[in-house]
Order: sequence, then structure tokens, then C-alpha cells
Amino acid sequence: MIVTADAAGIRRAAEMLRAGSVVAFPTETVYGLGADAFSEQAIAEVYRLKNRPSWNPLIVHVANVAAARALAAEWPDVANELAAAFWPGPLTLVVRRAEHLTGVGADTGTIAVRVPAHEVALKLLEAAELPLAAPSANRSESISPTTAEHVLRSLPDVPLVLDGGPASWGIESTVLDVTGEVPRLLRPGALGLREIREVTGAIALPEDVADGSARPSPGMSRRHYAPRAKVVLTEEVDASALDESVGVLTYETQDVPGAEILSADPKEYAADLYAALHRLDDAGVATILVKSPPDTEEWLAIRDRLTRAAA
Ligand code: TXA
Ligand code: MG
Repeated sequence: MIVTADAAGIRRAAEMLRAGSVVAFPTETVYGLGADAFSEQAIAEVYRLKNRPSWNPLIVHVANVAAARALAAEWPDVANELAAAFWPGPLTLVVRRAEHLTGVGADTGTIAVRVPAHEVALKLLEAAELPLAAPSANRSESISPTTAEHVLRSLPDVPLVLDGGPASWGIESTVLDVTGEVPRLLRPGALGLREIREVTGAIALPEDVADGSARPSPGMSRRHYAPRAKVVLTEEVDASALDESVGVLTYETQDVPGAEILSADPKEYAADLYAALHRLDDAGVATILVKSPPDTEEWLAIRDRLTRAAA
């Protein structure tokens, strides 16, 4: 059920989490399906509800840098600098994992952590007094939820969804591995590379992260973030070839009747993308034609998601 994220709602969600239940909650990127990061049973429930493969580890959400450090075996200087610059915010850091933390998936010896920039998420973390493992609150491989309703539609068995309104970024966090000499991008996301480089200098950008063909982080399966309809990327949508079975997702300049027309600003585009895909799916189209976004770094995360949706 969906519960307003007021003081009573947050208290109730925190109690459920402390009792080993899962709860979906809003973050600034997308909604997460939260569980006590120390409860193997709660985490197992996350994997079961999402139908998520066990090799794909979860991001742990914490209230502050100190709580993140407590989960790490090593906390490099660059993690401090990045946390100071971007936390709370849509940057996930992969660091060496403290030994007492097991069960957040895949035995990689590392852990992914972030401090979410959402009042409800932060209040929930404070009230629960637990680090919360939380993947996006959707069935594995489908579109991430940017509203409480999206969560329930994808995961009808979630016992409680805290409703904090639509997510402001609308695209998942950027995942950066800081265990090596040079920080390495594992998943492009809401936080841009230009901002990160201002803090870290060069970052390693595995070539195939950009074209969506590789799996640098365990979760980056080739097909992901996909609606039910078949997604086809195209340079220009041919409006004369459309019929009722085809939906169109384009941006700004092109005027196609009945199309979802998003902003030409990548940040605004990202904020609306998943909701637009949900709407096209709801319309029951068999195919979604998507006008390819520009091939620039600002659009990297969006291109990544669209390429995977089309795979
Ligand atoms: O914005 C977000 O990051 C959202 C909100 C809820 O915080 N969460 C999210 O989680 O997108 P999820 O589970 O859908 O994606 C987590 C990504 C996956 O690609 C996963 O493989 C990667 O992070 N990841 C998690 N732990 C990792 C680790 N120890 N090493 C490398 N990659 C890891
Ligand atoms: Mg996900």
C-alpha cells in the first residue's frame, strides 16, 4: 500500500524496516526498495520481490559520511573529497567492504554506498538507524520507478511504499569505483562526468560503458531499463509510417502528432524519461520509436539507458 511520507508514515516505515520487512521509499533519483543492510532475510526478500539475479549486488544508503565509512574496510582520500562535494546526492561510491557486512549480494569484497539527497530518505535513515540496502524498486530489467504508483505497478507485493512525490532527477545515480589508482565509471547516471572530474581529475571511462555493450558493474546487463514494448532507436522519426501500434518518444524540435515530446535539456529529459516510457507502455503500443539523443557526454546516462532498453 501507498502511504504519505509524513512523520507518521516515516515512523511506520522505520518500524517495519527494523522488524525485518522491506519498504519502498523515494530518493532524488528513483524510488528504492529498502531493507536492513544487515538482515540477510530482508535482503533475500528484496531479491525475491524484484526477481533480481543473486550476482547483482545492492547499493547501501546511509545518512552521512561517517555511516558510509563504517561499512568500508578502506576509505580513500578521493572518497572523502567526492563525498564532501556531492553528498547528499546522486553519486554512488564503490569501496572495499568492511568484513562485518555480508549479504548485500555478490561476494565482490566491495560495497556500493551513497547518501541520498531526499528529505524523506534521510528522515527514514535517521528513524530506522540502519544502513538501507536499496536497489531501484522495480522488477529486474524493467523501467525504474519515479513515482510511488510506478512502484506498486511493478511490485504489487511490496508491503509499504512511502510516497514522497515524483523523483526530481528521474535517472539513477552515477556509480564510481574508487578502489583503484584512478576512479572508474561503472554506471553513468544523474551526476555528470564533468562535475566529477572537477574533483578527481581524470576518471577511467571503460569504452563500452558509453555504448552499453559491456558489464563493468555486475548490474549492467545488456538489456535493462526496458518497457514491455519493443524500443527502437532512430535518428529521425518518420511520422508518415506511424499507426496505433507505434508510440513515439522524441524531444523538442520534432512535432509528431501523439508523441511524447521531452525537453532538449538533458537534465529535464532525464527527469521525464521513465514516466514517458511508463505512459507509452500503458497506452499498449507494441513498439516505441525513440529519436536518438545527441552523442555528447551530457547525454551519456540517457543514451546508456535507451541503448539498454532497446537491446
Ligand atoms: O539512484 C540509484 O542508484 C538508485 C536509488 C534507489 O538509490 N538505486 C539503484 O540501484 O539504481 P540498482 O540496484 O538498480 O543499481 C545498482 C547498481 C547496479 O548496476 C549494481 O551492479 C551496482 O550498482 N553495484 C552495486 N554494488 C556494487 C559493487 N559492490 N560493485 C560494483 N557495482 C555495484
Ligand atoms: Mg535498477
